[in-house]
Amino acid sequence: MIIANTIAEVKEHVRVWKKEGKSIGLVPTMGYLHEGHASLMECARKENDIVIVSDFVNPIQFGPKEDLATYPRDFDADCKLCEGIGVDLIFHPEPSEMYAPDFHSYVGVDTLSEGLCGKSRPIHFNGVCTVVSKLFHIAEADRAYFGQKDAQQLAIVRRMVRDLNFNIEIIGCPIIREADGLAKSSRNTYLSPDERAKAVVLNRALTKGREMVLAGEKDAAKVVKTVRDMIEAEPLARIDYVEIVDWNELQPVETIDGPILMAVAVFIGNVRLIDNFIVE
Ligand code: PAJ
Repeated sequence: MIIANTIAEVKEHVRVWKKEGKSIGLVPTMGYLHEGHASLMECARKENDIVIVSDFVNPIQFGPKEDLATYPRDFDADCKLCEGIGVDLIFHPEPSEMYAPDFHSYVGVDTLSEGLCGKSRPIHFNGVCTVVSKLFHIAEADRAYFGQKDAQQLAIVRRMVRDLNFNIEIIGCPIIREADGLAKSSRNTYLSPDERAKAVVLNRALTKGREMVLAGEKDAAKVVKTVRDMIEAEPLARIDYVEIVDWNELQPVETIDGPILMAVAVFIGNVRLIDNFIVE
């Protein structure tokens, strides 16, 4: 497996692979890799000749009061996991390699970025779109793999690719969970054992909400209230949002009569966790 720290190195390998007519799958990550990331890589491994993983904690998608400095990192473990899956190249740049001191170009998607996580994280999705655009160009990937765990991110990246005519296919992959239902996340390591046990409330509440929708409940407010009540019954939980939006424009819906995303963001202690389900 090639470990590349510079854009020039990646581009050199990509040039050779392209010349050989090989297809390239890209999995963008911020490292501290777990089975959720691994599932994207395995999918990419099946569908492409070459798999590139980026492992980069992207500073421009963190707000000033967010966890950039403490975001968990373990590059050696990440390399082992990638090697085991048969990744061809892991791209692990320094922030200065990605952002020159006079960097001034940003990519953003309006409307879809404004609700849900965008409300409390106003610069987040512009940071994501910008780094993802750079990675798409650097890797010249045919396909890129994103988890439904970050459903708003997946919808935004898909829209950016469509709207701006990027020559890449975006593949969405299902949420990988712990045995008790908690969605796997690098940030789960911040939870104390007690908080970790209580964090299952997100999935439990969403499972109930999903059952209601699948049973034909059309009143979004009713489903939201049931899910809110279940989460609020857990003393360690503090809700950031519980919403049902349409799975196209990500705007709140009153009546469920098309594809919807139900998404929650909840603080368990000081740790902000997200989870969701989609009903197509
Ligand atoms: P990160 O949080 O490291 O996630 C990288 C990818 O793994 C994302 O597409 C995310 O949705 C997916 N993922 C994380 N947990 C998952 C789980 N439990 N099941 C399935 N997929 C999961 O998302 C980012 O990094 C960044 O915003 C990035 C796109 C890399 C841009 O910096």
